[in-house]
Amino acid sequence: MQEKIKNLIYTLVREYYKEKFGSQKFVPGETHIPASGKSFGDEELVKMTEAVLDGWWTEGRFAAEFESSLAKFLGVKNCITTNSGSSANLLAVSALTSVHLGKRRLNPGDEVITIAAGFPTTINPLILHRLVPVFVDIDLHTFNIDVDKMKKMVSKKTKAVFMPHNLGNPFNLDEVRKLCRKHKLWLIEDCCDALGSKYRGRQVGSFGDLSTFSFYAAHHITTGEGGAVATNNAKLAAIVRSFRDWGREYWFRTGEDKKQDKGLGAAKRGKLPADYEAKFIFSEIGYNLRLTDMQAALGVVQLGKLKGFIEHRKDLYKRLRKEVAPFGKFFSFQEAEKNSDPSWFGFLITLKSGCPFTRKEFVDYLHGKNIGTRMLLAGNLTKQPYMQTYKVPFRKDDLKNTDYVLKNSFWIGVHPGIDQPRFVYMSQVLREFLDKKLEIKMKK
Ligand SMILES: Cc1ncc(COP(=O)(O)O)c(C=O)c1O
Repeated sequence: MQEKIKNLIYTLVREYYKEKFGSQKFVPGETHIPASGKSFGDEELVKMTEAVLDGWWTEGRFAAEFESSLAKFLGVKNCITTNSGSSANLLAVSALTSVHLGKRRLNPGDEVITIAAGFPTTINPLILHRLVPVFVDIDLHTFNIDVDKMKKMVSKKTKAVFMPHNLGNPFNLDEVRKLCRKHKLWLIEDCCDALGSKYRGRQVGSFGDLSTFSFYAAHHITTGEGGAVATNNAKLAAIVRSFRDWGREYWFRTGEDKKQDKGLGAAKRGKLPADYEAKFIFSEIGYNLRLTDMQAALGVVQLGKLKGFIEHRKDLYKRLRKEVAPFGKFFSFQEAEKNSDPSWFGFLITLKSGCPFTRKEFVDYLHGKNIGTRMLLAGNLTKQPYMQTYKVPFRKDDLKNTDYVLKNSFWIGVHPGIDQPRFVYMSQVLREFLDKKLEIKMKK
């Protein structure tokens, strides 16, 4: 009987999808084309409904499936889901401050190399742990860290690198890893904008000691809100799980009393009675950053579509590049890092000096035509209000290119929601504006 009712519900959910989302027609100029957005079918709604009807709701069977499928996709041993990319970043940094890493733990005052042309929650966990971000400039080809400048910024206090693959473009992992090996630095890859990007044929997120992912609706796949930490290091995985699960000594699956690992080895260090319940032994200053099983169910379906999503992003990037190629004199575009195969997050346009119009004119024109744009995340983090008002301590180089990007770059979307009619419209609008402004006729 239950199965029969369930199937009835699923049929209705599919019908509802068709009614509400199925017949959304694109009207050029009227329908908004956001720079980022989710793509989903009725199967996502059905799977989430399945999780609702399970009556479990906290992290459960779908989370376990999502974690193992993601680990397989990335080619890593451990994936730990969490409720956002920002939480993944907080967990990764918190893990490296753990007393269970002995001499290798990060301590207040230690420096962490990163870039300023990124997102605040890559940096904020460093600030919260009283670590010092060292902001290195980017180059204007890849819009990733300038590795020559990076080498000059290493000091005796430098203990880690925490770096995003900017807009999906893998940073120079050869050089960054070389530097990490030379100076014994931890490496955290922020892959929140780069799921599916490859470097030397391997998925990003499989190189660092830890890596982080976001499944917020804007990203390559979505769980609504959500994130994950990946690592090949069993000890780091145990520490991340502990920070995520209230600081527990042992890892337990939700609702189960069976230990899933050997623990962090700190159980005897407290002053608890010997018979104390293992689930209530806390060895880290933890949080609760888990996601729900409804979110994980969504992730399971989205992950199954990831390969197609990646192909779409790459293809759109290529075609947009072709469209604007004749205007290369006025713009620079993001070039794939050497040896990489990016799963682009967006199509970045940077106005070169001498360009006869401003970024504001360009962006306003696109907005007027209902095409969404975004800046390169926080632009230059050191110039954000909170960095000023909280007098956050940091070190930086001249950040010359970062400042250039702050004033001259923006991006448009390449997400799977941009289908052929939307692409054609976007190309027309771009051409229209550029033709008008530059009086150049595109060569067909
Ligand atoms: C590079 C980067 N890191 C981290 C995050 C944070 O992810 P979330 O929005 O899931 O917290 C973002 C957000 O989009 C991001 O772009």
